[in-house]
Amino acid sequence: MMFRQSALSPFRFCVAPMLDWTDRHCRYFHRLLSKHARLYTEMVAAPALFHGDAARHLDFDAAEHPLALQVGGSDAAQLAHAARLAERWGYDEINLNCGCPSERVQHSSFGACLMKEPGLVAQCVTAMRCATTIPVTVKHRIGVDDITDYAFVRDFVGTVANAGCDVFIVHARNAILAGLSPKENREIPPLRYEVVRRLQNDFPELTFILNGGVDHWTNVESLLDNDSPSPLAGVMVGRWTYHQPYILTEVDRRLFNVSTSPMTRRGAIEAFIPYMQKMLRQNVALRSMTRHLLGLYHGQPRARLFRQHLSTASNLGRNDIGVIYEALNLVV
Ligand SMILES: Cc1cc2nc3c(=O)[nH]c(=O)nc-3n(C[C@H](O)[C@H](O)[C@H](O)COP(=O)(O)O)c2cc1C
Repeated sequence: MMFRQSALSPFRFCVAPMLDWTDRHCRYFHRLLSKHARLYTEMVAAPALFHGDAARHLDFDAAEHPLALQVGGSDAAQLAHAARLAERWGYDEINLNCGCPSERVQHSSFGACLMKEPGLVAQCVTAMRCATTIPVTVKHRIGVDDITDYAFVRDFVGTVANAGCDVFIVHARNAILAGLSPKENREIPPLRYEVVRRLQNDFPELTFILNGGVDHWTNVESLLDNDSPSPLAGVMVGRWTYHQPYILTEVDRRLFNVSTSPMTRRGAIEAFIPYMQKMLRQNVALRSMTRHLLGLYHGQPRARLFRQHLSTASNLGRNDIGVIYEALNLVV
């Protein structure tokens, strides 16, 4: 794959994998707001796919494309199995998590601790590539613990690229494996975007997507600036999109040259209602869907009333779509 040169790289705007947040309801809603943003699932543990109920973890709505499955694991056979399933289910990409610092994940030997074992990651990537024709990509950090030496991440990328991975999503912070919670690990280690630029410069044949702290459009546009010496193929954005999902309506116009006018907030909810009704009929709780809407009116008058109405247990407990119309009436 060689997307970097193209103004329309499919990775130009990716919505980050976020455990407990980017579930299928969230992704369906995000897709209503942008046709082109690339969506990622929450991390699914490869052993769970190997031993458990794959459909429960993998089912998604066809509207969600383009969609990548993110997996966590370090057993090549299990990851190969996950890659076969990802292709069978129709995912557009399978991404291996080498960036999660949580202790639980470390106990299973996956996530950021894998950056210390580039040879093992390369074996896993080889096994996954042999098992599928869809792209196999890796998401990682720029270092672990107190290793801030550029050679560490450069050699990690070099080794994994030799196994055939050519797309790297780089969270531009170190992961601190002991002593910081996952949340602190997204805030305390300093962002060093220059490391990702240097990787792009040193590996011009590879595609790098920058992740971490991207929360305004000037930032996105300067990172993707084609006139800079090493333009990046894309950005991956997590918390900004989740907390302010309406920014997704800007993606197609700003980054994919689409000129249709963006959906209104109300229009987005109205478009989501048939999906919510279908899910309610399948006994999905209303709360599981409305929780992803809470930031939609961020910065708008009466946003707090909208949020409160959709966060009140007695409202949500009714499992009735009328609650959504009531919330909408509070913001008109
Ligand atoms: C609630 C939450 C859950 C996350 N879960 C995952 C995950 O499953 N896999 C992963 O690679 N990163 C996960 N992350 C990290 C994000 O993908 C991203 O790397 C991080 O939030 C930095 O990007 P941001 O500054 O744009 O939010 C999670 C982040 C949050 C906030």
